[in-house]
Amino acid sequence: MGCKMSWIIFQLVLCAPLSSFSLIIGGDDSDTVSSNIVYLHQLLSEERIMRSSLETKIQQMEQRIQKLETNMSTMQKVPSRDPTVAFHAYLAKDGGAVQSAHVIFDTVLLNIGNAYSPLHGIFRAPYNGTYLFSVTAATSPGHQLHFYLRKNDKTVEFVFADSRDWDQASKTTILALNVDDYVWVEANGELMGSWSDDSFGHIHIHSSFTGFFIKEM
Ligand SMILES: *[C@@H]1O[C@H](CO)[C@@H](O)[C@H](O)[C@H]1NC(C)=O
Ligand SMILES: *[C@@H]1O[C@H](CO)[C@@H](O)[C@H](O)[C@H]1NC(C)=O
Repeated sequence: MGCKMSWIIFQLVLCAPLSSFSLIIGGDDSDTVSSNIVYLHQLLSEERIMRSSLETKIQQMEQRIQKLETNMSTMQKVPSRDPTVAFHAYLAKDGGAVQSAHVIFDTVLLNIGNAYSPLHGIFRAPYNGTYLFSVTAATSPGHQLHFYLRKNDKTVEFVFADSRDWDQASKTTILALNVDDYVWVEANGELMGSWSDDSFGHIHIHSSFTGFFIKEM
C-alpha cells in the first residue's frame, strides 16, 4: 500500500511536467507554427509603425526645444520690464597732480546690475537705451580739476572746478548708448580724494560718478 502510493506520487511528479511540455510544443503541427509566424510578423510591423511614429515625435520635440533655446538666448539679451541699473561711486584716494588720467572712483555706494566696474572705473551699458550720468569734480584750496565725461573714446561733457577754497562742480547729462558702449571719466589737474569736516556740519567733499539706466530703445 505504502509502496503503491509512492509509485503514484512519483508518476505525478515525473509525468505532469512532461505532459505539459509536450502540450506546449504542440507536436509538429505546421498550421500552429505558421499562424504563430504570421502573428509575429504582425507584431513586428506594428512595432515598426510605433517606432517610426515615436521617432517622428522625438524629432518634432527636438525641433521645438531648439526653437525654445534660440528664443531663450534672444530673450536673455532683451531686458525684463524693470531692469534696474544704477551706480554711485566716489573718489576716496588722493591722485595728486594728473594729466589725461583715467579716474577710478574707488568707493562704490551703489552698483545695482554691476554695470560699473570699481576696478577699472568704467561703466559698460548692458542694454541699448538712454542713461543718465552725473559727474562731480571736487577741488582743494588753490587747485583746479577738470573732468571729461567720455563715451567710448569721445568727450561728451566736461566739468571745470577751479577755486581758492574747497569746491565742487558738477554736470548731468543723458546719453543714448548701445550695448557695450562704455562711459568713464578722464581728469586733468589736482585729483583730490575725499575731504571731510565734521566741525562744519558733516561736510564731505568728493569727486563722484553716478549713473542709471532710464529706458531701453
Ligand atoms: C520664438 O519667438 C518667436 C518671436 O520672436 C515666436 O514667433 C515663436 O513662436 C517662438 N517660438 C517658440 C517655440 O516659442
Ligand atoms: C543695439 O543697437 C544696435 C545698433 O542700433 C543694434 O545693431 C543691436 O542689434 C542692438 N542690440 C540689441 C540687443 O538690441
